[in-house]
Amino acid sequence: MINAAMFDTKPYDMEGFEKYAAQNGVCVKYFETKLNADTVSLADGCDAVIVFVNDNVSSDVINALYASGVKLIALRCAGFNNVDVREAFGKIHIVRVPAYSPYAVAEHAMAMLLTSVRRIHKAYNRTKDFNFSLNGLTGFDLHGKTAGVIGTGRIGRVFIDICRGFGMRVIAYDVFPSADSGIEYVTLPELFENSDIISLHCPLTKETEHIIDRESIAKMKKGVAIINTSRGALIDTEALLAGIKERKIGTACLDVYEEESDIFFEDNSGHIMEDETLARLLSMPNVLVTSHQAFLTNEALSNIAQVTLKNISDFFCNGETPNEICYQCEKKPYCRGERSEKCF
Ligand code: NAI
Repeated sequence: MINAAMFDTKPYDMEGFEKYAAQNGVCVKYFETKLNADTVSLADGCDAVIVFVNDNVSSDVINALYASGVKLIALRCAGFNNVDVREAFGKIHIVRVPAYSPYAVAEHAMAMLLTSVRRIHKAYNRTKDFNFSLNGLTGFDLHGKTAGVIGTGRIGRVFIDICRGFGMRVIAYDVFPSADSGIEYVTLPELFENSDIISLHCPLTKETEHIIDRESIAKMKKGVAIINTSRGALIDTEALLAGIKERKIGTACLDVYEEESDIFFEDNSGHIMEDETLARLLSMPNVLVTSHQAFLTNEALSNIAQVTLKNISDFFCNGETPNEICYQCEKKPYCRGERSEKCF
């Protein structure tokens, strides 16, 4: 049996992992706590750790895992900005789940947009209270509007298809535009200037951090709707708040927040909110926040469990790790993973 310690476990995660662990030869120890320098010793004696978006897999944590004999970090998500990939090179292999349901995330982005622009969240509360007034609920048609999509990978493309189904024009920006995709690519400033709706579907990297900042907001149309289902730090939150106050930003739909790691996924309803920036955001009538929920469908959870466990089993039993990532992979074709199916 391969022993794996799973951090930041929630009840909805366990169902899929319990179902598929034994058939992949993996014995999973579940921990509710996140992985960080204080909790890393819980992985002692394990072959692998299974981590999620807000586990802090810093260089200290990687070196502690390495010292205790852990050989594999299995991300049960696509993004890996929380892992010091460079520090892990030569010490611990890293695998991820590159895609588990692009539909889940793209559909959530559209759900947030529709909820926000048609004021469904307000209408729901009103009618529950027998208030059938329509004052203040005026929205706008999506049909005929221009959606600007940043990042045209798996999720971005599904979102583009959904927007087209609504009769919207779609323009897009990607550092690697996809030839023959039928997507109308524009420059980033052109996207900011011409979009009624901007949806972020690129990863968080040094280049994309605060891609939405004061400068980019200044270029946008008045009343623009911004949707972020990717990573919080793509948006400079203070700049967003300033744009909302100036009435430049009409709607902000946020499934992620740059300081989410100690707040999201937990019930904080009995506590005083220490994060004043988030408190200010939530007080805005045109801001809709969900708690990094876009991935949360039955289909996605099942795919996450199956692929994570197969990644672990492939690594330890077959030596083939098609979902491995390393900092060298970014320098293709030089990464040794090209030849050996393992990055070092
Ligand atoms: P993907 O890897 O298929 O596509 C990402 C696209 O972004 C690629 O086409 C890439 O060329 C592009 N890109 C990279 N750097 C860029 C830059 N500087 N400017 C513009 N485009 C750039 O990834 P996928 O599966 O579509 O996921 C996108 C993001 O969604 C992930 O990185 C992750 O952060 C987020 N995500 C959020 C979830 C949630 O529950 N809220 C769940 C899953 C993913």
